[in-house]
Amino acid sequence: MKQRDVTNAIKKIEAAETEEELEELRVAYLGRKGELTQELRSIGQLPESERSQRGKTLNQYKKRLEHALQQQREQIRARRLETQSQQAVDLTRPGIGPRRGRLHPVETLQYEVIGLMQQIGFQVIEGPEVETDWYNFQALNMGPDHPARDTADTFYLEDGSIPRTHTSPVQIRYMEENKPPVRIISPGKVYRNEDEDATHLWSFRQVEGLVVDEGIRFSDLKGTLECMLKGIFGEDTQLRLRPDYFPYTEPSAEVDASCMMCSEDDRDERSRCQVCEGTGWVELGGSGMVHPRVLGNVGIDPEAYSGFAFGFGLERLAAVKYQVPDMRHLWRPDLRFLEQF
Ligand code: DAH
Repeated sequence: MKQRDVTNAIKKIEAAETEEELEELRVAYLGRKGELTQELRSIGQLPESERSQRGKTLNQYKKRLEHALQQQREQIRARRLETQSQQAVDLTRPGIGPRRGRLHPVETLQYEVIGLMQQIGFQVIEGPEVETDWYNFQALNMGPDHPARDTADTFYLEDGSIPRTHTSPVQIRYMEENKPPVRIISPGKVYRNEDEDATHLWSFRQVEGLVVDEGIRFSDLKGTLECMLKGIFGEDTQLRLRPDYFPYTEPSAEVDASCMMCSEDDRDERSRCQVCEGTGWVELGGSGMVHPRVLGNVGIDPEAYSGFAFGFGLERLAAVKYQVPDMRHLWRPDLRFLEQF
Protein backbone atom coordinates (compact mmCIF):
# COMPACT_ATOMS: atom_id res chain seq x y z
CA MET A 1 0.00 0.00 0.00
CA LYS A 2 1.25 3.44 -0.95
CA GLN A 3 0.59 6.82 0.50
CA ARG A 4 -1.79 7.48 -2.41
CA ASP A 5 -3.74 4.27 -1.73
CA VAL A 6 -4.23 5.39 1.84
CA THR A 7 -5.52 8.78 0.73
CA ASN A 8 -7.95 7.05 -1.62
CA ALA A 9 -9.09 4.71 1.10
CA ILE A 10 -9.76 7.63 3.43
CA LYS A 11 -11.79 9.37 0.70
CA LYS A 12 -13.92 6.24 0.33
CA ILE A 13 -14.39 6.06 4.08
CA GLU A 14 -15.48 9.69 4.23
CA ALA A 15 -17.98 9.07 1.44
CA ALA A 16 -19.64 6.12 3.21
CA GLU A 17 -23.23 6.87 4.11
CA THR A 18 -24.25 3.88 6.17
CA GLU A 19 -22.69 1.84 8.93
CA GLU A 20 -22.86 -1.22 6.65
CA GLU A 21 -20.82 0.48 3.93
CA LEU A 22 -18.30 1.55 6.53
CA GLU A 23 -18.01 -1.97 7.88
CA GLU A 24 -17.35 -3.31 4.38
CA LEU A 25 -14.48 -0.82 3.98
CA ARG A 26 -13.04 -1.73 7.37
CA VAL A 27 -13.04 -5.40 6.43
CA ALA A 28 -11.45 -4.63 3.04
CA TYR A 29 -8.46 -2.83 4.62
CA LEU A 30 -8.18 -3.95 8.21
CA GLY A 31 -10.12 -7.22 8.38
CA ARG A 32 -8.34 -10.54 8.82
CA LYS A 33 -7.78 -10.79 5.09
CA GLY A 34 -7.74 -7.03 4.55
CA GLU A 35 -5.23 -5.32 2.28
CA LEU A 36 -3.27 -3.65 5.04
CA THR A 37 -3.44 -6.62 7.38
CA GLN A 38 -1.94 -8.88 4.75
CA GLU A 39 0.82 -6.44 4.04
CA LEU A 40 1.63 -6.17 7.73
CA ARG A 41 1.74 -9.92 7.93
CA SER A 42 4.17 -10.23 5.04
CA ILE A 43 6.70 -7.84 6.54
CA GLY A 44 8.72 -10.80 7.71
CA GLN A 45 9.49 -11.69 4.12
CA LEU A 46 11.21 -8.33 3.46
CA PRO A 47 14.96 -7.97 3.70
CA GLU A 48 16.06 -7.31 7.27
CA SER A 49 17.10 -3.69 6.55
CA GLU A 50 13.71 -2.63 5.21
CA ARG A 51 11.53 -4.32 7.78
CA SER A 52 11.53 -1.75 10.57
CA GLN A 53 10.92 1.26 8.30
CA ARG A 54 8.12 -0.48 6.42
CA GLY A 55 6.60 -1.63 9.67
CA LYS A 56 6.47 1.94 11.00
CA THR A 57 4.91 3.24 7.78
CA LEU A 58 2.27 0.54 7.63
CA ASN A 59 1.35 1.05 11.28
CA GLN A 60 0.93 4.73 10.59
CA TYR A 61 -1.38 3.92 7.69
CA LYS A 62 -3.30 1.64 9.94
CA LYS A 63 -3.75 4.37 12.55
CA ARG A 64 -4.92 6.86 9.93
CA LEU A 65 -7.45 4.42 8.55
CA GLU A 66 -8.72 3.50 12.01
CA HIS A 67 -9.04 7.16 12.88
CA ALA A 68 -10.97 7.92 9.67
CA LEU A 69 -13.28 4.93 10.25
CA GLN A 70 -13.96 6.03 13.80
CA GLN A 71 -14.72 9.60 12.79
CA GLN A 72 -17.03 8.57 9.98
CA ARG A 73 -18.84 6.11 12.25
CA GLU A 74 -19.60 8.92 14.69
CA GLN A 75 -20.80 11.18 11.91
CA ILE A 76 -23.16 8.56 10.54
CA ARG A 77 -24.57 7.93 14.01
CA ALA A 78 -25.05 11.60 14.70
CA ARG A 79 -26.87 12.05 11.39
CA ARG A 80 -29.11 9.09 12.10
CA LEU A 81 -30.03 10.39 15.55
CA GLU A 82 -30.84 13.75 14.10
CA THR A 83 -33.25 12.40 11.50
CA GLN A 84 -34.81 10.12 14.09
CA SER A 85 -35.43 12.96 16.49
CA GLN A 86 -36.82 15.11 13.71
CA GLN A 87 -39.32 12.42 12.94
CA ALA A 88 -40.23 12.02 16.60
CA VAL A 89 -40.87 15.65 17.47
CA ASP A 90 -41.44 18.20 14.79
CA LEU A 91 -42.13 21.32 16.78
CA THR A 92 -43.37 23.18 13.74
CA ARG A 93 -46.17 20.74 12.93
CA PRO A 94 -49.73 21.86 13.69
CA GLY A 95 -51.13 20.14 16.79
CA ILE A 96 -53.83 17.48 16.92
CA GLY A 97 -56.91 18.96 18.54
CA PRO A 98 -58.23 17.12 21.62
CA ARG A 99 -61.41 15.11 21.02
CA ARG A 100 -64.23 16.90 22.74
CA GLY A 101 -66.69 14.92 24.77
CA ARG A 102 -70.37 15.75 25.02
CA LEU A 103 -73.35 14.93 27.15
CA HIS A 104 -75.09 11.64 26.61
CA PRO A 105 -78.52 12.16 24.96
CA VAL A 106 -80.36 10.85 28.04
CA GLU A 107 -78.34 13.21 30.20
CA THR A 108 -79.10 16.14 27.88
CA LEU A 109 -82.77 15.38 28.20
CA GLN A 110 -82.51 15.04 31.96
CA TYR A 111 -81.02 18.54 32.17
CA GLU A 112 -83.73 19.83 29.86
CA VAL A 113 -86.46 18.42 32.10
CA ILE A 114 -84.76 19.78 35.21
CA GLY A 115 -84.45 23.21 33.60
CA LEU A 116 -88.10 23.24 32.61
CA MET A 117 -89.34 22.22 36.02
CA GLN A 118 -87.09 24.65 37.84
CA GLN A 119 -88.70 27.43 35.83
CA ILE A 120 -92.06 26.57 37.37
CA GLY A 121 -90.70 26.39 40.89
CA PHE A 122 -89.62 22.78 41.36
CA GLN A 123 -86.57 21.92 43.40
CA VAL A 124 -84.22 19.06 42.37
CA ILE A 125 -83.74 16.42 45.06
CA GLU A 126 -81.73 13.21 44.83
CA GLY A 127 -82.06 10.02 46.84
CA PRO A 128 -79.93 6.89 47.35
CA GLU A 129 -79.88 4.18 44.70
CA VAL A 130 -79.95 1.40 47.29
CA GLU A 131 -83.06 1.50 49.42
CA THR A 132 -84.70 -0.25 52.32
CA ASP A 133 -87.93 -2.17 51.98
CA TRP A 134 -89.65 0.60 53.91
CA TYR A 135 -88.83 3.37 51.43
CA ASN A 136 -89.11 1.36 48.22
CA PHE A 137 -92.37 -0.38 49.18
CA GLN A 138 -93.97 -0.11 52.60
CA ALA A 139 -94.10 3.64 53.04
CA LEU A 140 -95.54 3.80 49.51
CA ASN A 141 -98.49 1.73 50.68
CA MET A 142 -97.10 -1.62 49.55
CA GLY A 143 -97.14 -3.84 52.61
CA PRO A 144 -95.30 -7.19 52.69
CA ASP A 145 -98.18 -9.01 50.96
CA HIS A 146 -99.14 -6.35 48.49
CA PRO A 147 -99.56 -7.88 45.01
CA ALA A 148 -98.00 -4.83 43.32
CA ARG A 149 -94.63 -5.97 44.67
CA ASP A 150 -94.65 -8.83 42.18
CA THR A 151 -94.79 -6.48 39.24
CA ALA A 152 -91.76 -4.54 40.45
CA ASP A 153 -89.18 -7.20 39.36
CA THR A 154 -87.06 -6.44 42.36
CA PHE A 155 -83.36 -7.26 42.81
CA TYR A 156 -82.39 -7.97 46.41
CA LEU A 157 -78.92 -7.54 47.86
CA GLU A 158 -77.59 -10.08 50.37
CA ASP A 159 -78.40 -7.87 53.35
CA GLY A 160 -82.01 -7.49 52.17
CA SER A 161 -81.59 -3.97 50.82
CA ILE A 162 -82.94 -3.10 47.42
CA PRO A 163 -81.47 -1.37 44.39
CA ARG A 164 -84.48 0.90 44.09
CA THR A 165 -87.07 -0.20 41.53
CA HIS A 166 -88.34 3.36 41.07
CA THR A 167 -87.59 6.93 42.16
CA SER A 168 -90.80 7.13 44.22
CA PRO A 169 -88.98 6.43 47.54
CA VAL A 170 -87.47 9.91 47.24
CA GLN A 171 -91.00 11.25 47.82
CA ILE A 172 -91.01 9.59 51.24
CA ARG A 173 -87.50 10.67 52.18
CA TYR A 174 -88.25 14.26 51.26
CA MET A 175 -91.62 14.45 53.02
CA GLU A 176 -90.16 12.93 56.18
CA GLU A 177 -87.80 15.88 56.41
CA ASN A 178 -89.83 18.69 54.82
CA LYS A 179 -93.37 19.80 55.47
CA PRO A 180 -95.65 21.29 52.78
CA PRO A 181 -95.53 23.17 50.53
CA VAL A 182 -93.53 20.49 48.63
CA ARG A 183 -92.59 20.89 44.98
CA ILE A 184 -89.75 18.61 43.90
CA ILE A 185 -88.47 16.57 41.00
CA SER A 186 -86.02 13.76 41.46
CA PRO A 187 -84.07 12.26 38.58
CA GLY A 188 -82.04 9.10 39.07
CA LYS A 189 -81.21 5.51 38.23
CA VAL A 190 -83.46 2.57 38.99
CA TYR A 191 -83.02 -1.21 38.64
CA ARG A 192 -85.34 -4.02 37.65
CA ASN A 193 -84.79 -7.71 37.32
CA GLU A 194 -86.20 -8.08 33.84
CA ASP A 195 -85.16 -9.09 30.36
CA GLU A 196 -84.17 -6.29 28.08
CA ASP A 197 -85.96 -5.53 24.85
CA ALA A 198 -86.55 -2.50 22.65
CA THR A 199 -88.71 -0.80 25.31
CA HIS A 200 -87.34 -2.27 28.57
CA LEU A 201 -83.94 -1.98 30.24
CA TRP A 202 -82.81 -3.62 33.48
CA SER A 203 -81.18 -0.39 34.59
CA PHE A 204 -82.67 2.91 33.51
CA ARG A 205 -83.48 6.42 34.67
CA GLN A 206 -86.64 7.94 35.95
CA VAL A 207 -87.69 11.39 36.85
CA GLU A 208 -90.11 11.67 39.74
CA GLY A 209 -92.29 14.65 40.52
CA LEU A 210 -94.13 15.50 43.74
CA VAL A 211 -96.28 18.43 44.78
CA VAL A 212 -98.04 18.65 48.17
CA ASP A 213 -99.87 21.68 49.46
CA GLU A 214 -103.29 22.86 50.59
CA GLY A 215 -105.94 22.42 47.92
CA ILE A 216 -103.89 20.61 45.26
CA ARG A 217 -106.25 19.07 42.71
CA PHE A 218 -106.13 16.66 39.78
CA SER A 219 -106.31 19.61 37.40
CA ASP A 220 -102.99 20.85 38.85
CA LEU A 221 -101.43 17.52 37.91
CA LYS A 222 -102.86 17.77 34.42
CA GLY A 223 -101.66 21.33 33.92
CA THR A 224 -98.17 20.55 35.19
CA LEU A 225 -97.82 17.49 32.96
CA GLU A 226 -99.06 19.43 29.96
CA CYS A 227 -96.53 22.17 30.59
CA MET A 228 -93.76 19.61 30.98
CA LEU A 229 -94.58 17.61 27.85
CA LYS A 230 -95.04 20.66 25.66
CA GLY A 231 -91.71 21.91 26.95
CA ILE A 232 -89.97 18.66 26.05
CA PHE A 233 -91.69 17.71 22.81
CA GLY A 234 -93.09 20.99 21.50
CA GLU A 235 -96.29 23.04 21.71
CA ASP A 236 -98.31 20.71 19.45
CA THR A 237 -97.99 17.78 21.83
CA GLN A 238 -101.19 16.55 23.40
CA LEU A 239 -101.60 14.88 26.76
CA ARG A 240 -103.79 11.87 27.46
CA LEU A 241 -104.52 10.50 30.92
CA ARG A 242 -105.91 6.98 31.29
CA PRO A 243 -107.18 5.40 34.50
CA ASP A 244 -104.59 3.14 36.07
CA TYR A 245 -103.62 1.77 39.45
CA PHE A 246 -100.65 2.53 41.71
CA PRO A 247 -100.76 1.76 45.44
CA TYR A 248 -99.39 5.21 46.33
CA THR A 249 -101.84 7.30 44.32
CA GLU A 250 -105.65 7.55 44.23
CA PRO A 251 -106.89 8.14 41.64
CA SER A 252 -104.03 7.07 39.38
CA ALA A 253 -103.44 7.72 35.70
CA GLU A 254 -101.18 6.49 32.96
CA VAL A 255 -99.66 9.38 31.02
CA ASP A 256 -99.53 9.32 27.23
CA ALA A 257 -98.22 11.92 24.81
CA SER A 258 -99.40 12.24 21.22
CA CYS A 259 -96.85 10.69 18.88
CA MET A 260 -94.68 13.34 17.32
CA MET A 261 -93.18 10.98 14.78
CA CYS A 262 -96.20 10.44 12.61
CA SER A 263 -99.07 12.69 11.60
CA GLU A 264 -102.77 12.16 12.18
CA ASP A 265 -103.71 12.77 8.56
CA ASP A 266 -101.36 10.25 7.05
CA ARG A 267 -102.72 6.86 7.99
CA ASP A 268 -100.06 4.95 6.04
CA GLU A 269 -97.26 6.73 7.79
CA ARG A 270 -98.86 6.15 11.16
CA SER A 271 -99.37 2.42 10.67
CA ARG A 272 -95.64 2.01 10.12
CA CYS A 273 -94.59 4.20 13.03
CA GLN A 274 -92.13 2.38 15.31
CA VAL A 275 -92.51 4.84 18.14
CA CYS A 276 -96.29 4.63 18.72
CA GLU A 277 -96.87 1.32 16.90
CA GLY A 278 -99.64 2.96 14.94
CA THR A 279 -101.72 4.02 17.95
CA GLY A 280 -100.80 7.69 17.75
CA TRP A 281 -99.96 7.75 21.48
CA VAL A 282 -96.80 6.98 23.43
CA GLU A 283 -96.89 5.78 27.02
CA LEU A 284 -94.51 7.84 29.18
CA GLY A 285 -95.20 6.89 32.79
CA GLY A 286 -97.57 6.98 35.73
CA SER A 287 -99.15 9.66 37.86
CA GLY A 288 -101.90 10.35 40.35
CA MET A 289 -103.05 12.07 43.52
CA VAL A 290 -100.88 11.10 46.48
CA HIS A 291 -102.68 8.43 48.53
CA PRO A 292 -103.84 9.71 51.95
CA ARG A 293 -102.11 6.75 53.59
CA VAL A 294 -98.76 7.82 52.07
CA LEU A 295 -99.19 11.31 53.50
CA GLY A 296 -100.09 9.71 56.85
CA ASN A 297 -96.91 7.56 56.73
CA VAL A 298 -94.75 10.67 56.71
CA GLY A 299 -96.81 12.59 59.29
CA ILE A 300 -98.64 14.94 56.94
CA ASP A 301 -102.35 15.39 57.71
CA PRO A 302 -104.30 14.17 54.65
CA GLU A 303 -107.32 16.19 55.78
CA ALA A 304 -105.34 19.41 55.52
CA TYR A 305 -103.10 18.65 52.54
CA SER A 306 -103.30 16.96 49.19
CA GLY A 307 -100.81 16.36 46.44
CA PHE A 308 -99.98 14.82 43.10
CA ALA A 309 -97.04 12.77 41.88
CA PHE A 310 -95.70 11.40 38.64
CA GLY A 311 -92.85 9.22 37.44
CA PHE A 312 -91.50 8.95 33.89
CA GLY A 313 -88.82 6.81 32.29
CA LEU A 314 -86.16 9.12 30.90
CA GLU A 315 -85.01 6.65 28.24
CA ARG A 316 -88.62 6.48 27.04
CA LEU A 317 -88.71 10.24 26.72
CA ALA A 318 -85.34 10.19 24.95
CA ALA A 319 -86.41 7.42 22.55
CA VAL A 320 -89.51 9.40 21.59
CA LYS A 321 -87.76 12.74 21.34
CA TYR A 322 -84.73 11.52 19.39
CA GLN A 323 -86.68 8.89 17.45
CA VAL A 324 -84.64 5.93 18.62
CA PRO A 325 -86.66 2.78 17.88
CA ASP A 326 -84.73 0.57 20.34
CA MET A 327 -83.85 1.92 23.80
CA ARG A 328 -80.97 -0.55 24.13
CA HIS A 329 -78.98 1.56 21.67
CA LEU A 330 -78.91 4.39 24.18
CA TRP A 331 -76.53 2.82 26.67
CA ARG A 332 -74.33 0.82 24.32
CA PRO A 333 -70.87 2.37 24.30
CA ASP A 334 -70.98 2.86 20.53
CA LEU A 335 -69.68 6.26 19.47
CA ARG A 336 -71.08 5.88 15.96
CA PHE A 337 -74.52 6.01 17.55
CA LEU A 338 -73.83 8.51 20.31
CA GLU A 339 -72.06 11.04 18.10
CA GLN A 340 -75.33 11.70 16.29
CA PHE A 341 -76.66 13.67 19.24
N1 DAH B 1 -93.19 4.48 40.31
C1 DAH B 1 -93.91 4.22 39.07
C2 DAH B 1 -93.11 3.30 38.21
O1 DAH B 1 -91.95 3.12 38.46
C3 DAH B 1 -94.18 5.49 38.33
C4 DAH B 1 -95.09 6.38 39.11
C5 DAH B 1 -96.46 6.18 39.03
C6 DAH B 1 -94.59 7.35 39.93
C7 DAH B 1 -97.32 7.02 39.71
C8 DAH B 1 -95.45 8.18 40.63
C9 DAH B 1 -96.82 7.98 40.50
O2 DAH B 1 -95.02 9.16 41.43
O3 DAH B 1 -97.64 8.82 41.19
O4 DAH B 1 -93.62 2.75 37.26
